[in-house]
Amino acid sequence: MVIKSATFICSNTQVSKLPPPVMPEYAFIGRSNVGKSSLINMLTSKKGLAKTSQTPGKTQLINHFLINENWYIVDLPGYGYARASKSKKADWDKFIHTYLDKRESLQCVMVLIDSRLEPQKIDVEFCNWLGEKGLSFVLIFTKADKQSNVKTDQNVAKFKKSLGETFEEVPEYFITSSETQLGRDDILTFIENINKVFKIPQLN
Ligand code: GTP
Ligand code: MG
Repeated sequence: MVIKSATFICSNTQVSKLPPPVMPEYAFIGRSNVGKSSLINMLTSKKGLAKTSQTPGKTQLINHFLINENWYIVDLPGYGYARASKSKKADWDKFIHTYLDKRESLQCVMVLIDSRLEPQKIDVEFCNWLGEKGLSFVLIFTKADKQSNVKTDQNVAKFKKSLGETFEEVPEYFITSSETQLGRDDILTFIENINKVFKIPQLN
């Protein structure tokens, strides 16, 4: 897919105020600092579209970006930010979960995993939660440029094994780098194929 346009539309904390669910939507989520905003900028080839930061916890809202006038990328706040207060963490959990659970036009949750790390409990638990809710998701391993391919492959295999404990079938996955654009074409093709069959949800 060629990206012709990518525009910031709105930031929200309330699911009731999101744009109407009439276009296919893909939510990018993962631990704080995993590289969500960088990946969004890499996919859209627009530096600075989503705000990146070396300080974890930068993205604190549901941010909608309209791509090619016909689908949305959503940048979500990272989970597991160690320095956030307990009540703030609970707030985030609540609104992320409400969004993921209720958003009719959400086509796929893109779960970002740091490819440098062994499986993290919080990531595995989040995937299990998505599974329980019956939400479709894929895994996106980030920052692959930071170590050897062998190391990346080992961590990917370990993560798949961890998920294999609860899932019969491990979801599709992509290995990416926002620095080298690794994985860009594959992710955009994946999204394009879903967009082709998207139908506007019937709302009650
Ligand atoms: P929050 O919004 O705080 O949850 O973070 P985020 O997941 O959006 O992470 P962000 O994209 O802001 O990136 C965090 C840090 O990792 C920044 O310093 C990025 O430059 C760096 N980073 C992200 N992706 C990559 C990558 O693929 N390769 C390398 N080398 N660095 C990356
Ligand atoms: Mg971010």
